[in-house]
Amino acid sequence: MTKRVFSGVQPTANLHLGNYLGAIKRFVELQNEPGTECIYCVVDLHAITVPQDPEKLRAQTREVAAAYLAAGVDPSRSIIFVQSNVSAHAELAWILNCVARMGWLERMTQFKDKAGKNAERSSVGLFDYPVLMAADILVYKATHVPVGEDQKQHLELARDIAARFNTDFNVEGFFPLPDPIIGGPAARVMNLQDGLKKMSKSDPADNSRINLTDSVDVLVRKIKKAKTDMLPMPSHVDELHDRPEVDNLIRIYAALSGLSKEAVVAEFAGAGFGVFKPKLADLAVESLGPVMTAMARYLDDPAQIDAILRTGAERANACAQPILAETKKAVGFWS
Ligand code: TRP
Repeated sequence: MTKRVFSGVQPTANLHLGNYLGAIKRFVELQNEPGTECIYCVVDLHAITVPQDPEKLRAQTREVAAAYLAAGVDPSRSIIFVQSNVSAHAELAWILNCVARMGWLERMTQFKDKAGKNAERSSVGLFDYPVLMAADILVYKATHVPVGEDQKQHLELARDIAARFNTDFNVEGFFPLPDPIIGGPAARVMNLQDGLKKMSKSDPADNSRINLTDSVDVLVRKIKKAKTDMLPMPSHVDELHDRPEVDNLIRIYAALSGLSKEAVVAEFAGAGFGVFKPKLADLAVESLGPVMTAMARYLDDPAQIDAILRTGAERANACAQPILAETKKAVGFWS
């Protein structure tokens, strides 16, 4: 059976190493697996669940597309497009809103975290976010979804919604239950100055993260300044439990090199950070440098990005429309 992969990144971020290692780099690996069709979306409908500046939203949408391309997503093989250009997402989301139950959404921890004490004042869209995410996936009958650890619960909800639709409308097997693809050493990339926090675009300290728009010099400087401790490099992974910053750097090294965490620990066992950090910096320059350069080149040519996104939207629409039409038929809509 062919695998159909769907995933999305929100155009809200200054993209950083966490977005790259946790998502975009894996999009490229999946694209290169034989028998796999990949659909990669810039999810602007999700972005507006919290207030956005329209001009920034447009610029950041191009930036995510540029990152996909710079990382090696090939628009002649994979589909790259913007969510709001394919109206089937929003249409299916409405139908699925009538399948999902309030109680299911009330359990979503991400909503609770994002809304905080102000749940009453958050947008209805923020509450409904996971249903739109389910629609993104199901409107292509995608079978596999690479996501970060934090999206696991949303993926489970998408499976529940798919299963419930299939039973409620008596269409056994109509929507496949999508499998999450989670993991790899860098499923979570942490803050370079505080290994207990996630690397985040919103941290005021710029040296807490590596941005994909940083120059190579800045990249090297941030790695050299990354927080560590006074001990030598560990000899066993078990020693990393109470050394979160060191653990993070080792996982970054593993993800960039394709080695396992164990192999990286073995290679540097007992060494000082004066040895490890320059090696990590070299590796980062070698693997991220070309992505950063390519990204700058794409961003210099927005017309090229726009053309790719336009073609992508047509292809995405051609996949989604027949599935949406069958869904409407199952529901009993007149046509
Ligand atoms: N919620 C995802 C995130 O923040 C982005 C996303 C939206 C997504 N729709 C999706 C990811 C569908 C996978 C599939 O990371």
